[in-house]
Amino acid sequence: MAIRQIRYEGDPILRKVSREVTEINDRIITLLEDMIDTMYEYEGVGLAAPQVGVLRRVVVIDIGEGPIKLINPEIIEEEGEIIDVEGCLSIPGRAGNVKRPEKVKVKYLDESGEEKIIEGTGLLAKALCHEIDHLNGILYIDKMIEEVELDEDED
Ligand code: NI
Repeated sequence: MAIRQIRYEGDPILRKVSREVTEINDRIITLLEDMIDTMYEYEGVGLAAPQVGVLRRVVVIDIGEGPIKLINPEIIEEEGEIIDVEGCLSIPGRAGNVKRPEKVKVKYLDESGEEKIIEGTGLLAKALCHEIDHLNGILYIDKMIEEVELDEDED
């Protein structure tokens, strides 16, 4: 378990497309654990592997209900629309309004390689969409409707 170095906006790695995980080996398990430690250290609600410099399709999320580890997450259904404020650990000191689906269904592998489906609304839907965008080199500022005055409690 270790805290990893966060990559910040301007680092080209954040703009690259991450590769699928084909084998859940010790490196991936350690990556997941380190990402959770790093997310908690920086008080984020989610973190994607490229944010710690690893171009693999791995995401961790905790909206206050315990950690969720997602390998190769993929949105398979989305519904509705909502505009809400977002921040990002890779873009400190900023926040902005982004339009996202209100509800998403995401397929992923858990750390034992079992295929799972998670449905999220509200904060969870927002986190899932935001983190999956990171795996495709997309940052929330690309979709931002307007900048928002930073609230200390935002992610
Ligand atoms: Ni982010």
